[in-house]
Amino acid sequence: MKNNFIIYLGIILVVQPCLTTPVPKSVDFTSADDEQLNEHNKLYKQVLNNFIDFTLKSSEEFLDFTMKIQEEIKRNNDFPDRELPNRRHEKFAKDLANIKSSESEQTLLNMYRLTEDILSADREVSVKIIHSDEAENLIEKYKIREFMDKIRGRYMEFYENVSNSIELYANELSKTQKQDQQKLFDWNEDFSEIKDFHSKTDQFMLFFEYFKPCCDEE
Ligand SMILES: *[C@@H]1O[C@H](CO)[C@@H](O)[C@H](O)[C@H]1NC(C)=O
Repeated sequence: MKNNFIIYLGIILVVQPCLTTPVPKSVDFTSADDEQLNEHNKLYKQVLNNFIDFTLKSSEEFLDFTMKIQEEIKRNNDFPDRELPNRRHEKFAKDLANIKSSESEQTLLNMYRLTEDILSADREVSVKIIHSDEAENLIEKYKIREFMDKIRGRYMEFYENVSNSIELYANELSKTQKQDQQKLFDWNEDFSEIKDFHSKTDQFMLFFEYFKPCCDEE
């Protein structure tokens, strides 16, 4: 669909999501547990908390940006006679608002959904996709690509931080512990090599599975 991204921008006149810092499960582990591959693991908790903070920040910014653009499109009458649809934005805002209140599995699913939405927005404005003149003009006028570049850069930095945390964590382990958790370190080796935003994100989503396999896809 050549005008896909407009669907995005269209939707955002939505209830302002109320964001507060989410409180994942309390940090109440026994030390025997915090260096094993389970949900009490300190690396797991650290990365999960960082991912929550990061997702809230990025998603809020993304939502703000797209809302602003929608208002400007309306004000400038760039789309006369057209109703801007808004289903996706409503959903986005809802997932965002849900993060703070839910259990961690649900939180993760919501975060994956937000991330997927940001990925598809990134895909939609990609230079590799041929846009109609109308769409291309809007992308340029509202500097949407520049914005997505910034968001993408921040994700890549976040992922790099994750890899670094895993390395620091690995250095704290005994030899046997390291061997026991080798699959995590193998994963990180692959993960840290990936340069493409979309593939890297797919790979990142597997991280939490090493600690707490999550079954319920919707
Ligand atoms: C990555 O880590 C650095 C150093 O701790 C921190 O300043 C920065 O905010 C982190 N970036 C992201 C996107 O999490």
